[in-house]
Amino acid sequence: MAMFRSFVVVLASAGLIALSTTTLIAQQPKWTIGMSQCNLGEPWRVQMNADIKRAAENHSELKVVFKDAQNDNLRQSAHVEEFVRAGVNLIIISPKEAAPLTGPVASAYKNGTPVIVLDRRVLGSDYTCFIGADNKKIGFAAGRWIAKTLGGKGKVVELKGLMTSTPGQDRNSGFREGIKGTDISIIFEADMKWLEPNARKEMESALARSQSIDLVYAHNDPGAHGAYLAAKAAGCEKSMKFVGIDALPHEGQMYVRQGILSASFEYPTGGKEAIELALKILNGEKVPKEVTLPSRVFTRDNIDRGGELLGN
Ligand code: FRU
Repeated sequence: MAMFRSFVVVLASAGLIALSTTTLIAQQPKWTIGMSQCNLGEPWRVQMNADIKRAAENHSELKVVFKDAQNDNLRQSAHVEEFVRAGVNLIIISPKEAAPLTGPVASAYKNGTPVIVLDRRVLGSDYTCFIGADNKKIGFAAGRWIAKTLGGKGKVVELKGLMTSTPGQDRNSGFREGIKGTDISIIFEADMKWLEPNARKEMESALARSQSIDLVYAHNDPGAHGAYLAAKAAGCEKSMKFVGIDALPHEGQMYVRQGILSASFEYPTGGKEAIELALKILNGEKVPKEVTLPSRVFTRDNIDRGGELLGN
């Protein structure tokens, strides 16, 4: 027994094993996951990476290597190719735009590297699994909520996410469906590419044309906040409402609590679910092609109750 203990101590001090009283556990991770993030300039993406990291930390058999493409499609394509060349066991990608990332994802997948596509889509179906909330449904719910809040009529500004990314397209088309048949008119629309400074500039243009705006619908909370800042600078933020999407606790939900946003629709990062799915894939289990995450709406009235689940 004494000999066994000293053998264990030697190995443990060499950092080769984890020690329990009866078992020796290999410390080397069995699998490496390459995570390709399109940018880390936005709080929501920082949260996605943190969710992935936290979920993976519970699994000593996993190692996750993160790469940040800094909002550059070419750099993100190169990252996917680097992961394949390095022989990672699985790739998770949250792509910047659908078309430019479709080729690299498809060729990784066809060459035998499983690929989980997270949040924004690629074109076609050459990937292992897609995880994300239903952006059309969120846009539709936002449209219905806005129509109800404005009593069926009013002037709305729509600040769109990147329209070459699928959430931007779906949050737009869902919203337009949601306000169909009402007397709501979109008096100004612009692509703010998900970024608060762009949204602020676009809102300045909208205000230069008309100050009689009832509500701003932005495809994410940074966009809604940028519009709010522009309206505040023009001294008219109290005469209009702001609605966004994402509802991070320390961003959108906080803005709702502060009375800056009237509503924020949750867009979960899917980081935890991506790791759960990755483990299944790596263990040879079958996974669905598509995993749709639920979403909640947060308003002043329901935020203390934890928001409300979007129905079907
Ligand atoms: C962050 C972000 C989020 C948005 C998501 C859509 O880059 O713009 O605010 O919900 O991407 O893909």
